[in-house]
Amino acid sequence: MLLPEPRKVGEVSLEEAIQRRKSRRRFSVRSLTAAQLSQLIWAAKKVPSAGALYPLELYAVVGRDGVEGVDAGVYRCEIGRITPHKPGDLRLELASACLHQMFIAEAPVSFVIAAEYERTTRRYGERGVRYVLIEVGHAGQNIYLQCEALGLGTVAIGAFHDDEVSSVLSLPRAHRPLYVMPVGYAREL
Ligand SMILES: Cc1cc2nc3c(=O)[nH]c(=O)nc-3n(C[C@H](O)[C@H](O)[C@H](O)COP(=O)(O)O)c2cc1C
Repeated sequence: MLLPEPRKVGEVSLEEAIQRRKSRRRFSVRSLTAAQLSQLIWAAKKVPSAGALYPLELYAVVGRDGVEGVDAGVYRCEIGRITPHKPGDLRLELASACLHQMFIAEAPVSFVIAAEYERTTRRYGERGVRYVLIEVGHAGQNIYLQCEALGLGTVAIGAFHDDEVSSVLSLPRAHRPLYVMPVGYAREL
């Protein structure tokens, strides 16, 4: 499915986005637009990569009514495009796999950033593992900042059972999950 072209100009300055950024763990029941999804994918993908080998794979777990015009399911994400990977609203299962951090199930969409280490370790050996872990930090920070610039919120989730997340998403064996990032309109308590 093609997504709207991501915007290259926004209304929130980089400084404002950095200043506002914080981890948000309460989300409204409000759908995202396909344009917002596209913008977030662009931000997550537009990151530096050691040797330009791009070991990261981005998945979106879309809930029912999570994104306007997009069915619930898991999608593989590329800039400007999502590809269905697995159908169904899997947010509860994803939250359970993340040590029952149930606010994850409230978010209309969660990104799962996975890595195919081989792409980088093939060239850099053991040091490639370090490079991949650094890179996922770049992607995560871009998602944080793009969320703030769109009036959305997110939190980086590192506490989860790798095998359970892989199984919920039916990830290919080579794609190892590193970060889960639920995204939605932040609901202040
Ligand atoms: C590697 C990493 C893993 C994290 N894992 C979780 C997590 O599993 N659950 C959670 O609620 N927050 C998680 N966080 C978010 C931190 O708790 C949060 O960034 C920290 O409390 C600072 O707050 P701030 O992001 O609002 O500045 C994680 C952050 C990082 C960088």
